[in-house]
Amino acid sequence: MTTLEGRVAVVTGAGRGIGQAICLGLAARGASVVAVDLVEPRETVEAAQELGGKALGLVADVSDAGNVARVGREIADRVGGCDILVNNAGIYPAKNIFDLDFAAWRRVLAVNLDSQFLMTKAVVDHMRRAGWGRIVNLTSNTIGLAMGGMTHYMASKMGVVGFTRALASDVARYGITVNAVGPTLTRTPGLSESGVNADAQQFVASLQAIRRQGEPEDVVGLVAFLAGEEARFITGQTIMADGGLVRL
Ligand SMILES: NC(=O)c1ccc[n+]([C@@H]2O[C@H](COP(=O)([O-])OP(=O)(O)OC[C@H]3O[C@@H](n4cnc5c(N)ncnc54)[C@H](O)[C@@H]3O)[C@@H](O)[C@H]2O)c1
Repeated sequence: MTTLEGRVAVVTGAGRGIGQAICLGLAARGASVVAVDLVEPRETVEAAQELGGKALGLVADVSDAGNVARVGREIADRVGGCDILVNNAGIYPAKNIFDLDFAAWRRVLAVNLDSQFLMTKAVVDHMRRAGWGRIVNLTSNTIGLAMGGMTHYMASKMGVVGFTRALASDVARYGITVNAVGPTLTRTPGLSESGVNADAQQFVASLQAIRRQGEPEDVVGLVAFLAGEEARFITGQTIMADGGLVRL
């Protein structure tokens, strides 16, 4: 396993689902973890501590500039800065363009894309000073599919790809890499709440080369690898961990 001993990893949306699995996966590899979520991420913090590592939970809305500025200060004061940032927090409320209003469009863009900019700004100076950093941004295999009801979500997740590509060039000279990871439909609390029914989930799984539904743990190995030393020459990429549905 990639070792992340001595690194501080910050994971957004770490209270449950994919973010929780990533946070625990990084903790299992030796990282000290900071779990950031709208809701107190107690379960994640306790589970990370049981793995033997240091873990801190912070409550914040990562789409809000004021909240993120506070998170940045707390990370600096309490754990000395961030070496690995995983921008995972995201929402995916399906809505046809005819029913989608501007506020709902803005909310998805804010949570899924603005948050990645804000969190990056909050920690990237520490990475620059350290001469080392890893940023991993969650996108989705949706960007390679023809799905309805997803204009806001698809725009946000394609935005993540563009943000990742351009940011990689800005920060490379400081030893910082930036990559995006795209899961497929994955069994999480968020998916259960989204209204995507079991038939649709089965249908998506049937289109994959590996024909089973994604589990949160299925993206952990890739994120951990990208967060480690061995991935030092990989940057600006979007990589799907989706059972082989979308092939770039
Ligand atoms: N589950 C899937 O099928 C799937 C597929 C592809 C991509 N993704 C992406 O993976 C990521 C995680 O998805 P999930 O299914 O685990 O979601 P989830 O809803 O199960 O968990 C998301 C977590 O993020 C937190 N969160 C939401 N908005 C936040 C905000 N503004 N500030 C801080 N925390 C916030 C929630 O409280 C929750 O704990 C998202 O970016 C999503 O778009 C998910």
